[in-house]
Amino acid sequence: MEQRKRIVSGMRPTGKLHLGHYLGVLTNWVNLQDEFDCFFFVADWHALTTKFDKTEDLKQNTIDVVLDWLAAGIDPDKAVIYAQSHVPEIAELHVYLSMITPQNWVERDPTLKDLAKMVRSADDDNKPSVSYGLLGYPVLMAADIMMFNVDYVPVGIDQVAHIEIARDIARRFNHLYNVELFKEAVPKLTKIPLLKGLDGQKMGKSFHNDIKISDDEQTTAKKIMQAITDRSRARKDDPGHPDKCEVAFSYWEAFGEPDIIEVVKAECMAGKRGCVDCKKQLACLVNEKLRPLRERRKYYENNLDEVHKIINEGSQKARVEAAKVLAQVKDAIRMF
Ligand code: TRP
Ligand code: SF4
Repeated sequence: MEQRKRIVSGMRPTGKLHLGHYLGVLTNWVNLQDEFDCFFFVADWHALTTKFDKTEDLKQNTIDVVLDWLAAGIDPDKAVIYAQSHVPEIAELHVYLSMITPQNWVERDPTLKDLAKMVRSADDDNKPSVSYGLLGYPVLMAADIMMFNVDYVPVGIDQVAHIEIARDIARRFNHLYNVELFKEAVPKLTKIPLLKGLDGQKMGKSFHNDIKISDDEQTTAKKIMQAITDRSRARKDDPGHPDKCEVAFSYWEAFGEPDIIEVVKAECMAGKRGCVDCKKQLACLVNEKLRPLRERRKYYENNLDEVHKIINEGSQKARVEAAKVLAQVKDAIRMF
């Protein structure tokens, strides 16, 4: 039988995930599990590239991310779930890759400027500051990807520049050491549009406009009642414009079945649906959709030892695969 194709993807441990992560990333990962050999990891070294001095929440954030993955249906029996820092082979591969990566490749990474803005120098006028490790962000990503010699990397468009560099590094390795060891991993872009925040801006935790997977039903309902609607509508029996109802209607579209979306649209346009009632119904729908996820999350919150076991066993599985590739790498370089 032909070997299944492999994919890898990671997330920095930023803490509890929101519905944008769920619809934009996690549902995609869940679907990929059946078709591919999946490696999903928490990129805790990458977190250090910008947060080396703010590590107090790192452990809890790692757990929270994995809790949300499990809640969303990432299945440890199907996918390998691990923490990057539990697979030291990745750091070793990173050393080898750093030797063959020209300085100007990493300096040219268009994402670097944005990452640098997240780090402010304390002693130099608050200027963006770039550490050696941050400069190596795409090289470390290349190590994540090449470590398992994957075929595809499911990511958002913002990560594509990094993956281009990873492909260049893979090609350069093969060329320099005259081997055909590494594949050039292809980004697999998610098609699902990003879910907007409650205020119509990009959904993000720092903007306080997100709904968390882990929020309770009351909190979710309260947040949805604040979602902006068609702002040109003064009274509830005025005809509404679903296409101008940037947040509430887009959530209907994201969570509802086609027939209910049509009803909402028609009633709104006919002035037969008030925004308050509409959002109450929407909150019920969102809560209903999230109920099984939240129950799963609760289960694992109450059984944290199982979560630790999943991460530890996943890391061990990852190390076994990583060791095979690393041996080939050292052989290709002719290390002693
Ligand atoms: N840089 C990615 C992000 O911020 C996370 C990441 C690290 C990653 N290593 C990776 C994603 C390897 C895919 C493959 O989202
Ligand atoms: Fe949006 Fe619903 Fe109000 Fe129409 S009735 S504007 S869809 S919230």
